[in-house]
Amino acid sequence: MDKDRLQAVVDSCNISTCRSFSTIGSTNDEAQSWADEDAEDFSLVIADEQTKGRGRFNRHWISKPGACLAFTVILQPNAFEKENLALFAPLCGLAVRDALAELLGIEAEIKWPNDILINRKKCCGILVEAVWTGENLKGIVMGIGINISAESLPPAGDSLFSPTCLEDAVQHEVDRFQVLESVMKNITKWRSKLKTKEFFEHWTDHLAFKGEQVMIVQSEKQSIIGIEKGIDPKGNLVLISENNVEMTFEVGDLHLRPVESS
Ligand code: BTN
Repeated sequence: MDKDRLQAVVDSCNISTCRSFSTIGSTNDEAQSWADEDAEDFSLVIADEQTKGRGRFNRHWISKPGACLAFTVILQPNAFEKENLALFAPLCGLAVRDALAELLGIEAEIKWPNDILINRKKCCGILVEAVWTGENLKGIVMGIGINISAESLPPAGDSLFSPTCLEDAVQHEVDRFQVLESVMKNITKWRSKLKTKEFFEHWTDHLAFKGEQVMIVQSEKQSIIGIEKGIDPKGNLVLISENNVEMTFEVGDLHLRPVESS
């Protein structure tokens, strides 16, 4: 890890405290332990390599040394934010999407609730977790993994969406620290706009598969096919079902996939 470059990002983004590692199990695990020990708001954990990187639904997330940008931001939500914890994953999605557009001119899309797709291929995964001690919220940890170079890609066939990386999209080298800086600044920006009209409009504007037929796959329930309409003011996905009924889905134990690839 280039400590000088990292320190410059820490300073320019007003990051409270930063823990950096050349190798770690998972930055989310480290962030959870740190939150449990009362980490400050807007603390950062970052690693060159993760050996036990985790994704949603207990999937493994590969982070090879230097090829991926793997980091976790710890937030101490205020009272308003505590009422809206489900919006932190999309907040990260908006921050990554905008960072890629501003820095690299990549027009990525957000697959509800929070994967980032470039030309329908996944370049970034987001894993947001709440840390509780009993009823006491010790913090929110927002883990973000962005594939920078081709070495970061998992083996083909590992997931529904083929993986891609930023360097494939722009056909030149990408500086991980610039990406980190832009994502952190956009996290601050969208945090200040959490749950606003602008927040939902921007999310809807960049939603993947909008107006297309998608399938919602829920564990232990029947899958539902419909046309993806957008996001409601709670951050739920709105679908028009095959019999023309509007249905909403909360973030949780379900997957969204386009019908053509299911
Ligand atoms: C997913 O697509 O299922 C989410 C992947 C999240 C990966 C990131 S990498 C940094 C942080 N540490 C982890 O162990 N996971 C997240």
